[in-house]
This record gives sequence, C-alpha cells and structure tokens, in this order.
Amino acid sequence: MRELVRRLGTGLLLCVMGSAGLLAQGWQHIGKVERVEAFKDGTQDGAELTAGKAKVRITQVSNGIIRVRVAPNGHFPKDFSWALAGTPLPEASSPVQLLDGQSEVKMTAGAVNVSVIKSPLLVTFSDVSGNVLLADEPSLPMGWNGPQVQVWKEMPADENYYALGDKAGPMSRRNRAFTNWNTDEFGWQESSDPLYKTIPFFIGLRKGVAYGVFFDNTYRSSFDFGKEGRDYFSFGADGGELNYYFIAGPEPKRVVEKYATLTGHPPLPPLWSLGYQQCRYSYYPESRVREIVRTFREKKIPADVIYLDIDYQQGYAPFTINREYFPTFEKMVSDLRAQGFRTIVITDLHIKKDANHGYAPYDSGIKNDVFVKNPDGSVFVGKVWPDDSVFPDFTLTRARNWWGSLYKDFVAMGVAGFWNDMNEPSVFLRADKTMPLDTVHRLDDGASVDHRAAHNIYGMENARATYEGLLKLEAGERPFVLTRAAFSGAQRYAATWTGDNSSTWNHLKMSTPMLLSMGISGMPLVGDDIGGFAGSPPADLLTRWFEVGALNPIYRDHTAKGTADQEPWVHGPEHEAIRKKYIELRYRLMPYLYTAIEEAARTGIPLMRPLFLEYPQATEFYGDDRDFLFGRDMFVAPVTTEMVDAQDISLPPGGWYDFWSGARHEHGEKIQLRLRLDEMPLYVRAGAIVPMQAVVQNTGETPDGPLALRVYPGEDCGGSLYEDDGHSLAYQKGEILRIHYACATSPSSLTITSSIEKNAYKPWWTSTSLTVYGAADAPKEVRIGERVTRDWRFDSQTHTVTLTVADALKNWSVRLAF
Ligand code: GLC
Repeated sequence: MRELVRRLGTGLLLCVMGSAGLLAQGWQHIGKVERVEAFKDGTQDGAELTAGKAKVRITQVSNGIIRVRVAPNGHFPKDFSWALAGTPLPEASSPVQLLDGQSEVKMTAGAVNVSVIKSPLLVTFSDVSGNVLLADEPSLPMGWNGPQVQVWKEMPADENYYALGDKAGPMSRRNRAFTNWNTDEFGWQESSDPLYKTIPFFIGLRKGVAYGVFFDNTYRSSFDFGKEGRDYFSFGADGGELNYYFIAGPEPKRVVEKYATLTGHPPLPPLWSLGYQQCRYSYYPESRVREIVRTFREKKIPADVIYLDIDYQQGYAPFTINREYFPTFEKMVSDLRAQGFRTIVITDLHIKKDANHGYAPYDSGIKNDVFVKNPDGSVFVGKVWPDDSVFPDFTLTRARNWWGSLYKDFVAMGVAGFWNDMNEPSVFLRADKTMPLDTVHRLDDGASVDHRAAHNIYGMENARATYEGLLKLEAGERPFVLTRAAFSGAQRYAATWTGDNSSTWNHLKMSTPMLLSMGISGMPLVGDDIGGFAGSPPADLLTRWFEVGALNPIYRDHTAKGTADQEPWVHGPEHEAIRKKYIELRYRLMPYLYTAIEEAARTGIPLMRPLFLEYPQATEFYGDDRDFLFGRDMFVAPVTTEMVDAQDISLPPGGWYDFWSGARHEHGEKIQLRLRLDEMPLYVRAGAIVPMQAVVQNTGETPDGPLALRVYPGEDCGGSLYEDDGHSLAYQKGEILRIHYACATSPSSLTITSSIEKNAYKPWWTSTSLTVYGAADAPKEVRIGERVTRDWRFDSQTHTVTLTVADALKNWSVRLAF
C-alpha cells in the first residue's frame, strides 16, 4: 500500500490514506494545514500550524536547531524536559522568516530552511542552497495511534545513521531497528536490544553532510532504519509527546556540539579517574584489597583506582559496611590513599527493606516518604541483591536530596567515587526485569507519572541525585559517579560503562564501535569492562584488551564473580610486561588525554572519535568499526582478532607518523602488518604536536623531567595543552593553564611556537623538551628565539631532532634551519 501511495503521489494522498491500510492499523496521520500563525515563546520563534484538531509548532531554538512539537488534540502539555541541560541556549542570530503560501509554508531559520507542504502536513529541512537534509516520507505524515506517536522520514539510499547510545553491533544503524527501554542485560550479545541506556538521538550522514535528530521522549521508543521499509525510516514512542529537534551540521562535529549544547556537557572529571582503574566482583576481605594495591606498587604498574563491589556491604544493603570482611574500612581507605589509590564503592539504588534494625537508609526513607509507590499507595517492593528492596523516587527533588545526603559518611571516610549500578532499575524474578508499568513516580509539582514515563530517566535521576549530593558534601571537589543506566543528558552527572560484556574476542571487537557510538551520543566519558565481565579471557585476549583500553576514555578492568583473576599480572611475566607497557603509555599520554577530555567537557566532542567525525568527506571510513581517533591527532587500529595473519591498515587523509618508530606514511599507502602481541598500530597525524610526560605510578605523582612535546611536522600544524589542579572546581573560576602550539614549515626551515592563552595555574614542569620527527638530516642551525643553540641532538635512525626549552612558561619559538 505504501508503494501504491508513492506511485500515486502526494496529490492523492489524503484519499488513499483514508483507505483501509493505515487506518486498519489504527494510525491517524496529520492532515491538511488550515491555519498558520507566527509563534514565539521566549527565544523560540517560528510557526504554529493547525490541521484539524491537531496543532504543530515548528520553532527555531538556537542557531541550526529547529524543534517540532505535535499536539494531536490541539493542547500542548507543559513544556518540560528531563534531557535538556536547562541552561539558556545561545539565541539564534536571526529571527525566523515566515512565508505562508498557497500550498506551502516556508520558514527561513538562519542556515536552515524548513518547508511545510500543507496538504497533508509534511516537513522538509534543507540547507540554504536547497539541498534536502531530512524530509517526511510523503505517504506517511506524522501520526499517532492512541498514546503512540511516530514520525516517518525518507531514507536516501546512501545515507548512514549513527549514535543512539549503547547499541551493540556495527556503528552504522542502517538496516536495523532498535528499542529504547533501559534493561539489565547480563551477558548481552551482538543482537541484544535494548540495553542499559536510552539515547534517542541519531546522526544522519551522507556524502560528508550531517544532521542530527533528538527525539525528546522518555517513553519506550523505537528507531527503525530500514527494517520495515527500504526507503523510509521512522522513530516513535509508546506514549509522551511527539517532540523532536532537527540539528543542522553540516559537519558531523557541529551536530555533536549542538546536541551537547542542548543536553549538556559532562563536567570535567577528576584527573585520577582518567588513570587506570582496577575492579572485580568483588575484592574482599580487606586483606585482599590491600594485597591487590600492594602488588600494583611492587610491580610498578601504574594505577589510580580500586573498586569495592557489592560484597563490602552488610547483606548487600547499600550504605553499609560488612565489618567482618572490612574491620578497619576507614583506615584501609586512607592507607590506600597514601599509596596513591582512590577507593570507589558501589552504592546501588535499591534500599534493603529492613525496618527498625537501625538501617538508616530504609528508616529515614520511609519517614521522608521518598520511595516509589504502587497504584494503591503502598511502597513498591522488589527483589534485588539485598532481597526485598524499595526504590527511591528519584523524580522528586526531595528524594534526590535525601539520597544525596546518604553519602555523608563515605565521603567523610575518604571514599573518592561512587558507582551507581542496577539503576535501569533492575528488579529480579520478574519477566520484565524491572518495576511494573503502573508504579507511581511523583513529581515536584504534586502531579505523578507512571513507570512508562519514568523508567528511562530513572537511572539518570539516580546519578543526578548522587552527583548533586556529592557536590554539596565534597566541598569544592569534582565528584566522580559511574552509572550503568542513562538517558540523554546523563553526561551532566556521570561517567558510564557498557555493562556486562563477555570475555570473548567478539566482545573485544564490539567494544570500539560501542564506545564510539556513546561518544557521539553525548556521553564521552565511557569505558567497558576490560577483559570482559562474563567468563575468563585467555591470556592473549586480555592483553589485546589492555592495549586498546589504554586509549579508551575510562580504563577499567572488571570481571564477574567466580571468574579467573583478571589483574594485569595474571598469565605470567610476558603478558604482564605488555599490559604494563600500555598502562604506562596511557600515563605518558596523560597531558594529551586530559587536554582532549577538557575539550569534551567544554564542547561535547569526544576523546574517542569515529573517523567520520574528523574526515566526513572520506566516505570509505563510514563503515569502519575497528579504527578510531584518540583525540584529534592519533589514529588507532587496534588488534581485536585472535588470528592475526596480517592487519591491513588504511590511514585517514593526510600524512601519518608511526607512533612507535617515527616512520612517515601517507594516506592511500597500503600498510600490511604482521603484528607481535605487544604491538598495537598507532599513528600520529603529520601536523600534530602532542604533549606527553614521564611515567608515574598514579596521577597524584609529579612526573620527572620536562613536559615532552612531540612535534610531527605537516599541514595544519598545531596542538594544545590544558592543565589545572586536576581535582577541584577552581578551573571554573579560570585557574587553568592553556597553551597553543603551532609549527610552520618552509623548504629550508621548521618553526615551532608556543603561545600561552591563559596562565593562571602553575604546572608541574618548568621546561619543555621537543622531539621533532621527520628530520631527514641534522639541522644546519637551531635557534631558541633569537639565540643560536648547540644543545640539540639528531638521531639518524629515528629521524628526530631533540632539544629542551627552559623557562617554558613564556611564549617561545624554536627554529630549525635545514
Ligand atoms: C552488575 C554490574 C556488574 C557488577 C555486578 C555486581 O552485574 O553490571 O558490573 O559487578 O552487578 O554488583
């Protein structure tokens, strides 16, 4: 029938639509526009269109962001969003120009043109030159079916779709359909869907041009990129408002940035959280925790964090300590701290139902009436780790405040970070794995919603309660929260991981596309369980996972109960040495990594980037699920297969230097490598300046020697360095150091410059060493500023020139004449 409609064309559409097909399925589609009025609400301006009973508002909310809202019955609900950051968006540079024509309404909103065909109402977004970016499928105008809402869009044959958060399998979402319903999916596999998070945001990319769509709806939602139809895609939800944002690019990076402007940026995490993190389910008793920490230090394997999973608690009751296992918990935490280890503890959201035994979280929660209710007003009880449990009503501000205050004792004990797990929420022994759909979640204004509306935001509001509580309790420190469940916007409160993966080669392979998808879905602070959670990895697999994990945003080894030990030293000295080499690599790269994380916090551009984010024109990378960029300038081609005959590597556009050997390669060159177990292909962009440091055992240690700049001459040459104290909120008051580096080449010289943009934080280094790559010969002369220096070295093997600039906290330039 859809095909028939297509052939008949839109003219006949309404009468065809009235025929059996679509109506039989119960869908009602928006009809003919009868009235067009200019509409303005605060800084949003645009048009309100009336079609029968329904009303549609199309407004410009900021430059390049257009919002579409539909009220089937003509009444728009109170404008409210859990996802939006709530901070005022930059006001659009020009107001919407509205042209109400005979058969079409035309809206010009800066660089976006919106055209609305009137009969039936069909929306098309185009750029200023008239290129269509996103258009309603002509035979299927926006529709509703009881509480369900749905949008159908044309799907050009060469368009690619990305993002949607933690979906497994290839990064490209085309030809697949997805559901968003936060689910505890232990042992998920490639085809498992839904998983733990709901990020109803995708990016369309075609011939280098990108746009995004954010569907701001918390109900169970679905995205179908060609499973149902070959030439249209759709998104919709089981309830809630038809409310979506069109986000213009044209570059994919601009889309990611604008999505971050809408839903918020991650706060800058503490530096220590970017170090190596050791976890398992569970380290206990206390002596085992101490043994693990001691072993790291004895073996000189750098690490910053140890986790305590649920067994540190009494009867799995959150906010308790099993004193049999941890007789001197407080002392242990401070002893670990003295060894440079931060302790992170798990605090699941389910509160053990344990009345009148002095278990304050339950008693005070009942007293304050903060738990989720059944429709009959009784408190909902479900079984989780502590057996019968109750569930905080995180949609209430006073419940979030109450929850936040529960962290007081642990914060006082020096526990540095908190892990919010099971917050989909997961409920055992129920077929739906969660709470019943009719449970009641109260809202601040006295109204309430059922679990259909609250389910997908429950975990985010749990993380928010933790984060906001810690902000109050930790007096000026940056909180660190790790959450499993999330909704769009959860990046404002927590880092995340991909849940219960498995110790298989296929899971290692799936890791990169999943982390990349999370990064472009607004959640750049993401990692997976290094080595896999379910099962025990063979030695080579664990080693390869340590290699690629070193360049993931969060680097955390974790495994399930009953599996083999998974610390870096298991499997003998050869494997240990390789794993240590990569953990050390991460610490050596910390100045570059932290600079990129600060960029993510400021702009939303993730540390771990799919190739198309930097090279949208290079369509050959659109389906690349193996490789990624670590920051802007490092290209990683991890080994994720057991049998390595030879690894074929296609470099992105431009020139690239082998990070390990310094050898220069060009895009298009065919690189085939037969890799040893200790080799992970890593390349640096010709034109990059990468700040590095000496290895430390944890991020609290001051590195020896100078800041180490690696200069890789090439086009568009530059780099930057960001530093601050790494733990407090003083950076928000501008107590930072920001330096920009550049290099310029002429046929006979290379000039490298350092310009300080902001000098309000004193770094750990006082001088800068430079290693300049790609030098065919020794320079004839080297100058620091005007002064000629003889204090440099040329290495004909690696083709590098090295020298040191003293007093590097001033602007400087270095000139190498060849
Ligand atoms: C869940 C988590 C896992 C954790 C376990 C016990 O399975 O995903 O990371 O170790 O619960 O708390």
